[in-house]
Amino acid sequence: MAILLTGGAGFIGSHTSIELNKAGYEVVLVDDFSNSSPEVLNRLESITGQKFPFYEGSILDKDFLRGVFEKHQIDAVIHFAAFKAVGESVSEPLKYYHNNITGTISLLEVMKEKGVKNIVFSSSATVYGMNNVSPLTEDLPTSATNPYGYTKVMMEQILMDVVASDPEWSVTLLRYFNPIGAHESGLIGEAPNGIPNNLMPYITQVAVGKLAELSVFGDDYDTPDGTGVRDYIHVVDLANGHSLALKHNLEQVGTQIFNLGTGNGYSVLDLVKAFEAENQVAVPYVIKERRPGDIATCYADASKAKEILGWTAQKDLHDMMRDSWKWQSQNPNGYDA
Ligand code: UD1
Repeated sequence: MAILLTGGAGFIGSHTSIELNKAGYEVVLVDDFSNSSPEVLNRLESITGQKFPFYEGSILDKDFLRGVFEKHQIDAVIHFAAFKAVGESVSEPLKYYHNNITGTISLLEVMKEKGVKNIVFSSSATVYGMNNVSPLTEDLPTSATNPYGYTKVMMEQILMDVVASDPEWSVTLLRYFNPIGAHESGLIGEAPNGIPNNLMPYITQVAVGKLAELSVFGDDYDTPDGTGVRDYIHVVDLANGHSLALKHNLEQVGTQIFNLGTGNGYSVLDLVKAFEAENQVAVPYVIKERRPGDIATCYADASKAKEILGWTAQKDLHDMMRDSWKWQSQNPNGYDA
């Protein structure tokens, strides 16, 4: 049974390919390397001892996609490929709408042509917007505050409308909380282009000496220590969530929505302290203004995935801190030599 992973060389796609392979699925990867590196493929081969079929190209290119579907008997797609930087989406909205929305439509059109009607989609807790109160449940109304977030809300809507038009489709929307950590080998991990936007890669780049200090965005939130609280989840747990969600998707029709989070919230300073204690490395920080668009607290109600998929996060904050550091310290420049 072959599963196509769009964005298969990315942070979450690469970790998911390993877990799917372990679970017995044949994986086929597609990526345009817009935010990933060909070196990922060598690392995946070192970890699994296998060379996964890989095709370089964009999901915007329907002929390219058709070629992939013609070479392999694809049973389902896990769709990771998308741009994801909030700030950049504000300055370049058309780039985001085109790549994320048009890319998804292009993929769905080719899937429809080829009669493949099973898709698991990389959504985000960003769709819960600013106004819902944690713990967040899947039935809450969705909204967004920036173009990146709107693309996730719209892609969810497009997928649900496809199901409404043809009940043979099976769509699974996975709403990720804050994925961090890395594969235990330290061979693959998160390698953002340029200065990281997200907290964990920023912390590891300060620790490795690439950046001078962490800016903590606000210490006056209504949280125990005043800094923002998030639901950090180990990327290998997240990858396992995809494997179980895929199994369920293949047995179902209709739309299913699952949060993938731990259900626990940790603050920015909790993370800094946990990282320092786990790895015995200093992370100097300064308190700065709040970042526009941030909320105080965001964590999952993770009970639906547990009940229906039998999935819960297995790894704790220690594992996340250790594995993030193992990856960064072994690869100070990410995948660049
Ligand atoms: C961000 C995005 C979200 C996206 C998710 C996945 C924003 C507003 N939200 O989530 O839409 O789905 O990434 O990539 O960008 N922080 C610092 N200093 C830093 C970086 C972050 O203090 O240098 C704080 C933030 O204020 C927040 C927490 O760390 O309280 C987590 O931030 P981040 O890692 O960027 O994730 P989110 O904002 O939760």
